[in-house]
Amino acid sequence: MCGIVAYIGGKEAFPILIIGLKRLEYRGYDSAGVALLNGDVNLYKCKGRVVDLENHIGEKNTKGSVGIGHTRWATHGEPNDANAHPHAIDNNELSIIHNGIIENYLTLKKELEKRGHVFKSDTDTEVLIHLIQDVKDSEKVDLEEAVRIALTQVVGAYAIVILSKNDPDTLVVAKKSSPLVIGIGENEFYIASDATPIVEYTRNVVYLEDGDIAVVPRHGELKIKNFKNKEVIPYVQELEFQLEELEKGGYPHFMLKEIYEQPRSIRDSMRGRASISRGTVQLGGITDFEQKFMKAKRIIIVGCGTSWHGGLVGEYLFEELARIPVEVEYASEFRYRNPVINEDDIVIAISQSGETADTLAAIKLAKAKGATILGICNVVGSSIARETHGGSYTHAGPEIGVASTKAFTAQVTILTLMAMEIGKMRGHIPKARFNQLLTEIKGIPKKVEEVLKTNDVIEEIAEVFKDASNFLYLGRGLNFPVALEGALKLKEISYIHAEGYPAAEMKHGPIALIDAEMPVVVIATKMGNYEKTVSNIQEVKARGGKLIALVTKGDKIVSEMADYVIEIPEVDEMFIPMVSVVPLQLLSYHIALKRGCNVDQPRNLAKSVTVE
Ligand code: G6P
Repeated sequence: MCGIVAYIGGKEAFPILIIGLKRLEYRGYDSAGVALLNGDVNLYKCKGRVVDLENHIGEKNTKGSVGIGHTRWATHGEPNDANAHPHAIDNNELSIIHNGIIENYLTLKKELEKRGHVFKSDTDTEVLIHLIQDVKDSEKVDLEEAVRIALTQVVGAYAIVILSKNDPDTLVVAKKSSPLVIGIGENEFYIASDATPIVEYTRNVVYLEDGDIAVVPRHGELKIKNFKNKEVIPYVQELEFQLEELEKGGYPHFMLKEIYEQPRSIRDSMRGRASISRGTVQLGGITDFEQKFMKAKRIIIVGCGTSWHGGLVGEYLFEELARIPVEVEYASEFRYRNPVINEDDIVIAISQSGETADTLAAIKLAKAKGATILGICNVVGSSIARETHGGSYTHAGPEIGVASTKAFTAQVTILTLMAMEIGKMRGHIPKARFNQLLTEIKGIPKKVEEVLKTNDVIEEIAEVFKDASNFLYLGRGLNFPVALEGALKLKEISYIHAEGYPAAEMKHGPIALIDAEMPVVVIATKMGNYEKTVSNIQEVKARGGKLIALVTKGDKIVSEMADYVIEIPEVDEMFIPMVSVVPLQLLSYHIALKRGCNVDQPRNLAKSVTVE
């Protein structure tokens, strides 16, 4: 979703802003803009991509060593030039960029209109800058104080950066429920909605907390206060990822690179945690909460999108291996129910970005009700990681493709390790079985490498089905969430309508859709309910459906029935999702590519959904 980048220091700001905006493209957006201060403020913005903004600016004046830049993902008002950020007031005296949503903007707008303010856009952001200006003039206070007072009247989420024509030596920033990070260079500061635009300049960063207002100077010290006007000591952290991780590394798309990174990312998720020689699994998210897990009567898993699918895999694993009842909830539904939560419940929030607004809100709700909250996040230092009592990072590395791939397999890796360890702790997994699982899980990266070798076969299948209008994905047991994930991947990036179903549920509805035009992907790997899946395949074949089957290497029965076959190596049933999801990621990738779709930045989608 929207991206923020700003600079103040001794260099030319424009190139830094443009590179930064390009780094933020992965978040999803529909318009872009910059404002640069060099005596006067030059403000340029337009609908479209960052490259459209560059063309729009052309040879115009971009001088200035302080500036703000933004990519907008429309919420209030359609994507057009007027609604793009920055928004300015009074001949560009103040300009603002904003991520988040001002919920009471209509009430504030009406008040401000009564007081003579005239608006040029449909956005909530423009209302905010008018409010700040109004407070500044009426209360006769400086910009920082005006921001503080104005924000006390605001309901909603925001990360803002304000540029003032009359004060070329400071930027004023504030945050609540939307992330904002400040990079500390030598006599210069970088500000961004996530660290991706900052990492090439400095590794030292300060993540603002909710309620922080910072005055970022051109030189000297960063000053942070909270809404109560109390000084806050900045906590400087070091970024862990490398610039190369944000580049495509020779692959045509980030998504393909990230699919191929999975042997490495799964290994990294286990590194230092699963040890065959010690016969142990050590995860911070468990060892610190051992007693809680021993007593837990229930685990509630919350997440959105792919992370919710990860949670569904977790449900099967926790119930099978640890024998604890699990509920998996869409965070957006959970937060608006009046969920029954007990103090001995453990809530696990799963999120790649660690910023998803609904997941964050669900955590806050469960925390207020006294549950223990653990996070499984990919982005270190993210809001969810900070809001939880503990948890485990996935260590998949930055995921740039909007469609999640390596984050999913890393989440499943952590969930599997957790389920194994809790199962052992609670006496449900005998030592020998535990050691066998450990040996097997450590071998999964190699198995994923084998699966990646089926890429050519998958590309051929993609060629056959690239013009399909619908797809059905079927799986049972641990392969049911994989079917959901396969369908989600396909619709996200190829815009083909796809549905995932538990294979047996097909006869209660979707079977009506099956004809010769309907490709059906069945995940029919060797596992407990293999024979049942075979029966479901027969139901598809009997109705003329085109069958693409994912089978365990050497399978004869399903392979003879299917029109197209993708083989995956044999793995313990508990680990199948980590392996079986990979061909489905590749299938979506190739189909989308053949349809000419923008694989890394599909239309309408955002990578980090920071509004509800
Ligand atoms: C967005 C992304 C999905 C992602 C979901 C949850 O919709 O496009 O790929 O699965 O958000 O994001 P999270 O960062 O919480 O895992």
